[in-house]
Amino acid sequence: MQVIERVAELSSVLGEERSAGARVGLVPTMGALHAGHASLVERAASDCDVVCVSVFVNPLQFGSADDAAAYPRDLAADLVVAEKAGATMVFAPSVAEMYPQEPVVGVRVDGRLGTTLEGASRPGHFDGVTTIVAKLFNLVRPDRAFFGEKDYQQLLVVRRLVADLSFPVGVVGCPTVRALDGVAESSRNHLLSRQEREAAVVLNRALRAGAALLLAGGSVPRDAAELMADIIGAEPLVDLDYAVVVDADTLAVPEGVEGHLRLLVAARIGTTRLIDNLGLRVAA
Ligand code: PAF
Repeated sequence: MQVIERVAELSSVLGEERSAGARVGLVPTMGALHAGHASLVERAASDCDVVCVSVFVNPLQFGSADDAAAYPRDLAADLVVAEKAGATMVFAPSVAEMYPQEPVVGVRVDGRLGTTLEGASRPGHFDGVTTIVAKLFNLVRPDRAFFGEKDYQQLLVVRRLVADLSFPVGVVGCPTVRALDGVAESSRNHLLSRQEREAAVVLNRALRAGAALLLAGGSVPRDAAELMADIIGAEPLVDLDYAVVVDADTLAVPEGVEGHLRLLVAARIGTTRLIDNLGLRVAA
């Protein structure tokens, strides 16, 4: 597996691969790779000839320089995970390599997709995500790019980035990987104390309870959202940000329960913010 730090080297290596007819897959990450990332790389390796994993803590998508600095980093461990999962190369540029000058041009995400839920709690976050993803698409020029459903709103935003700006990239959404106790794999889990990690189980428990309520019939999305909020609110170490049931494509709150829904929760445990979600299809 190659480790590449320079944009020029990345372009030349990938240029040769593309000329030889290789199908290129991109797995964009911010490092601190875990089983969820490994599943994305494995999926990419089964679909593509060449898999580029990018490891870059993108300063544009954090609210403050302190948040970005606190993000866990361990490139040596990341290389082991990426190689084992089948990556061909890891692209791990410095901030100076990616942004030799302070960027003044970027992508902006408006509408419900950009301004509700994560967009409301983290203003500017999706602008930063789409700007770096657009840049990575331009540098890697992948045939396919792989994103986890754990960051569900991000996945929808990236799909719109591709549609609205006509990137010739297939976006593949991959299922959330969970620990045995149901907690979604996340780089931020490393930041939790043992007690906080135990408390984090409540997010998945709330999602499953919300889904069960809707599947049982006789309830509307708001009932399930309230139930999830009550369950999370009862856990003393956890501060709820939001618990919602929305249309899986538009993120609008539906009147009824038919169709393709997504249950989404976000909460702060100590200083760590966690998100999780669950998909639900209810026949009319
Ligand atoms: O999901 C992430 O890790 C990041 O938001 C991404 C897509 C790598 C962009 O920095």
